[in-house]
Amino acid sequence: MVQKIYELKIKNNNRAGSDLYIMDLETPDGIFSKPGQFISVLIPHKTLRRPISIMENTGSTIRILYKVRGEGTNYLAGLNAGNYVNFAGVFGNFFKIGEKNLLVGAGVGLAPVYYLKKELEKIGRDAKLIAGFKTKTEVPRELSPFIDYMSTDDGSFGEKGSVIDLAEKYIKEFMPDNICICGPVIVMEKISEAAAQERIQCQVSMESMMGCSVGACRGCVIKINDSGVIRNAAVCKEGPVFDALKVFGGKSHA
Ligand SMILES: Cc1cc2nc3c(=O)[nH]c(=O)nc-3n(C[C@H](O)[C@H](O)[C@H](O)COP(=O)(O)OP(=O)(O)OC[C@H]3O[C@@H](n4cnc5c(N)ncnc54)[C@H](O)[C@@H]3O)c2cc1C
Ligand code: FES
Repeated sequence: MVQKIYELKIKNNNRAGSDLYIMDLETPDGIFSKPGQFISVLIPHKTLRRPISIMENTGSTIRILYKVRGEGTNYLAGLNAGNYVNFAGVFGNFFKIGEKNLLVGAGVGLAPVYYLKKELEKIGRDAKLIAGFKTKTEVPRELSPFIDYMSTDDGSFGEKGSVIDLAEKYIKEFMPDNICICGPVIVMEKISEAAAQERIQCQVSMESMMGCSVGACRGCVIKINDSGVIRNAAVCKEGPVFDALKVFGGKSHA
């Protein structure tokens, strides 16, 4: 995978919900990427670049969905069409696909699974996208027509309740052969337990603080169980997508 530095022009940088933005970056020469992969955005006067998942790649545009968390993402939110963004990439591995795919995104974790759904549709694979948010102001409205099942914790949009319950319901109903999840650790852990119970392949996209993004600084490592051997794995290089059993052990599988 070729990793380069890009200086790309912003086509749009629109508010998509509370503290939520969708940015379109022009890629006139095209950039190759796959769902699950991420870019690392340069923030002026900051040493560490900020990793952000690719949400869509049309060939001439790369889209990202980001939530304002701190200085870096606040800087991005202040940029306008015509401004330039410097990023390095493309980094990381990508989701494996199945015949019947159940995709689950919680909060901004929607970005990589939304990208996966678009790509699966292009090749005619069966895919259902589930998304969960705390409340309706956190739902990126522009994306909601592409979401098959949606929940908010307070019931202000979609079904009321947890995305975990929604995913468990559709695992039984849809009986996928592949589940891909991105969101908070507790969401990924619980859904991957349900997947393990049904003996379904499950992949999770992990988040970690990052430095180099290429596996050199070891700043992003997480513990995984690799065929009985517990070892550190760099999220930036071996991930961010991992077999859920390696990360969470599939407790209900026992
Ligand atoms: C592979 C990967 C993909 C990601 N994709 C997205 C995405 O699509 N959309 C999105 O909104 N966010 C995404 N994130 C999280 C995003 O990187 C952080 O929100 C961002 O770095 C925060 O930067 P900041 O300067 O605004 O906040 P800061 O002020 O630096 O920190 C705010 C919080 O963000 C977290 N954070 C800060 N720096 C990093 C870092 N380098 N790596 C991981 N977490 C960090 C910390 O938990 C901290 O508490 C992703 C993270 C990873 C690892
Ligand atoms: S960020 Fe340096 S090893 Fe992953």
